[in-house]
Amino acid sequence: MLLVTAAIIETNGLILAARRKPGCQLAGYWEFPGGKVEADETNEGCLARELSEEFGVQCKIGDFFGDSIYDYGTKRVRLLAYRVQHLSGTFQCRDHDRLCWLPAHELLSLQWAPADMPFVVKLQEEHQVTATLAYYQDNAREYIQETIDLEFTGQIRQRFLALLAPDSLVLDLGCGSGRDSRFFLEAGHRIVAVDPVDAIAESATEYLGQPVRVQKAEELEETNTYDGIWACASLLHIPRSRIEATFTVICKALKPGGIWYMSFKRGETEYQDYKQRFFNNYTIPLMEQVLRQYPQLSIIDIYESPSLLRGKVQPWLNILLKKSTQAPQITG
Ligand SMILES: C[S@@+](CC[C@H](N)C(=O)[O-])C[C@H]1O[C@@H](n2cnc3c(N)ncnc32)[C@H](O)[C@@H]1O
Repeated sequence: MLLVTAAIIETNGLILAARRKPGCQLAGYWEFPGGKVEADETNEGCLARELSEEFGVQCKIGDFFGDSIYDYGTKRVRLLAYRVQHLSGTFQCRDHDRLCWLPAHELLSLQWAPADMPFVVKLQEEHQVTATLAYYQDNAREYIQETIDLEFTGQIRQRFLALLAPDSLVLDLGCGSGRDSRFFLEAGHRIVAVDPVDAIAESATEYLGQPVRVQKAEELEETNTYDGIWACASLLHIPRSRIEATFTVICKALKPGGIWYMSFKRGETEYQDYKQRFFNNYTIPLMEQVLRQYPQLSIIDIYESPSLLRGKVQPWLNILLKKSTQAPQITG
């Protein structure tokens, strides 16, 4: 297998793409700059050399970005991408016939070499997630005002509450205004509230009178810690490519016998709304398919419910789960 490196170079929100010149294999296709790793060369060393030889620039090779294996028929390629910071020199087009800088959401307007496509998809997803969090950051006050008194979790909150033993420890994952955290606190439980958006966490901290941790669900590190995990309309902002890894860390954070509620908008696909917020929607069969990979979780209930939001009735998917008491105590 041919080992090839690729550079994800982003400057002022624009990402560099290079077009393969006429006469070479895959002529006319776009790729991230890079090249073949030579014997006795590290991946990072190769990338720095290729960028210097082919584009006349000096760069700092940063974090590993991703791995893509593609079989072109005549050869199998393993492409290793790194984030790269441009340090000096002006980009010259020495071994390609065009260079282009474009924002992540326009990357798909180019015809990419197949091996590079997984990186294009990942960059687009990253951009969508960043735009979603930026929306909440920039509109925190209005968003909180709109949702702090919403009644739409009423019934399911009561049901969740009935499953908790007194003085339970509940994680409110993506707590938003803190509306539901406050409800559980007032019902006598202890709350850990988290939200990845600074402005939201700051406001919820004030509302709850206790610190709200700034964190994404994907970054949870606890093991067998919570009696209940409440994730109302928050995991819907996590792309499908990362949902299973997220469920794994949530499941690990839940105590054996613990309960977990989450909700999504009902739908089949991922999309971005007119506010540039990214949503990952599920139907009951699609969600059941994902949950089959977690034998330690049993479904207490999975159902659709209509909710009135901003004057519109929207179908939501509610999922109430229990972690088996037989689940092995995870120590790692
Ligand atoms: C639609 S609001 C719901 C807020 C609150 N749970 C409620 O029901 O009012 C989505 C919330 O999820 C948070 N969020 C976005 N991405 C997240 C992630 N990866 N992990 C946890 N929360 C996230 C947002 O900051 C926002 O506060």
